[in-house]
Amino acid sequence: MEINALEFDRMAREVFAPVYPVLAEQIINRTGISQGCSLDIGCGGGYLGLALARISELETILFDESQDMLNLAQGYISQSGLESRAKTLLGDVHAMSLADESINLVVSRGSMFFWENRVQAFREIYRVLAIGGAAMIGGGFGNAELLREIEIKMLKKDPEWKEKRQQRIGQSKVEEYRQELEQAGISSFEITRDEAGLWITISKTA
Ligand SMILES: C[S@@+](CC[C@H](N)C(=O)[O-])C[C@H]1O[C@@H](n2cnc3c(N)ncnc32)[C@H](O)[C@@H]1O
Repeated sequence: MEINALEFDRMAREVFAPVYPVLAEQIINRTGISQGCSLDIGCGGGYLGLALARISELETILFDESQDMLNLAQGYISQSGLESRAKTLLGDVHAMSLADESINLVVSRGSMFFWENRVQAFREIYRVLAIGGAAMIGGGFGNAELLREIEIKMLKKDPEWKEKRQQRIGQSKVEEYRQELEQAGISSFEITRDEAGLWITISKTA
């Protein structure tokens, strides 16, 4: 995936920043997981993983295929004072250098739309997920109010932003993601969608 790390990071800081703490709280409320090891896949500047670490006891691995993104994330780890619980890891979601069942909470926002083989990526996520663990993968803006504020800013930058959003997290995508999860051999999942986002929640039980 070709992404200009500095450009994306500026947008994350200037436009998306309020979304990450809201999502972090939603994720912890939904999964009930606030201890152990978390993994933020396609972390970019690491804002979601760090937001989770701030409100929990979770350790966090900020994972991305872009070294430029991880350099930014490393800087934000230092600024956050969370060095003892956060680290970066370079890699591709399709083949992660992580042990089986080693991660309690996987999160990923805004990344799965770029994965070349989502079925393989879902298999890989399920492999690293610990028994009793959960993954929340998707895209979104926290709530309808935040979405409206962000939409005003994004439409000024990109008049096609609304259509692009629909192509990634619109209702028409739900069936496609459901089929991919089934192809990956995962049965314990739920796809939730509202105006503000689309999220796949995977749970792994014994
Ligand atoms: C749109 S950015 C989202 C960044 C961050 N999650 C956020 O919400 O601010 C997508 C990120 O996914 C990463 N990415 C894309 N494909 C990937 C892959 N196959 N493996 C790991 N990271 C990937 C990109 O490098 C980029 O940092």
